[in-house]
Amino acid sequence: MMHPTVLVTGAAKRVGRVLCEHFAQKGWNVVLHYNESKKEALALAKKFSEDYPDQKFCVVQGDMSLGEITAQKMMSVLPEGVSKLDALINNASVFDPGALAKTEGELLRREFIINFETPFFLMRDFYLKYKSGVIVNILDTRVHNEDSSYAAYSLAKKSLMHLTKMAALEWAPDMRVNGVAPGPVLPPMGKDDSWLSNVVAQTPLKRAVGLDNLVNSVYFLITNNSITGQIINCDSGAHLI
Ligand SMILES: NC(=O)c1ccc[n+]([C@@H]2O[C@H](COP(=O)([O-])OP(=O)(O)OC[C@H]3O[C@@H](n4cnc5c(N)ncnc54)[C@H](OP(=O)(O)O)[C@@H]3O)[C@@H](O)[C@H]2O)c1
Repeated sequence: MMHPTVLVTGAAKRVGRVLCEHFAQKGWNVVLHYNESKKEALALAKKFSEDYPDQKFCVVQGDMSLGEITAQKMMSVLPEGVSKLDALINNASVFDPGALAKTEGELLRREFIINFETPFFLMRDFYLKYKSGVIVNILDTRVHNEDSSYAAYSLAKKSLMHLTKMAALEWAPDMRVNGVAPGPVLPPMGKDDSWLSNVVAQTPLKRAVGLDNLVNSVYFLITNNSITGQIINCDSGAHLI
């Protein structure tokens, strides 16, 4: 039996890890990308190889603050015996606070290169190399509002949303490109549950986004051959306010 292969960026922890678990459980080979979490990525790939011996797993390191060169490296690694990539999930990101007036060049460049530019080159190189497949970009419900508390982050994710739709149109009928815009799932690194509770309280559904709901949304877009250029707002209704 042929197993399709997915590259997940930022795969070692949190949302990325749960995405990998879901795809492995569904019979996919997985390329797990990491930047600093080498130990966790290797341990996860090893666990998957034991749990799913008929499927293939490998890891690739890449610092996405380096742009095109990292995208090329990430796109060149496949598990042994696997000849092509079928899906790309752009999940890795950085989430730095800062209103517009407090945003300096370094912050703006860091947010844009990790959250937009390197994902762009990954998408482009995936398309140029294989001319078929499916991409899901993990966005953020912040793409729908003008809240500037994480201004550079939001602007980079807004750009990624437009890239999602533009690529869906340009690369059809060969590739499908979609996005998932989560609301509050986990507190950001360095923040505790009270930070999350505050954000959750502002959502219409007054509930945190379940990791299972989020990964199911991604899996739905990856496997539904009739959908391209769509954004699923898996956000407890936050895009409505
Ligand atoms: N958490 C939420 O509630 C929430 C809400 C809305 C949207 N989202 C979106 O959902 C996705 C996953 O969220 P998350 O909270 O799980 O993300 P996260 O933990 O903040 O980051 C995921 C991974 O991104 C990788 N990363 C950071 N800087 C990198 C760099 N320079 N080069 C390469 N990789 C880098 C890290 O990999 P290493 O650990 O290997 O360094 C990290 O583990 C993100 O796109 C995020 O914007 C999340």
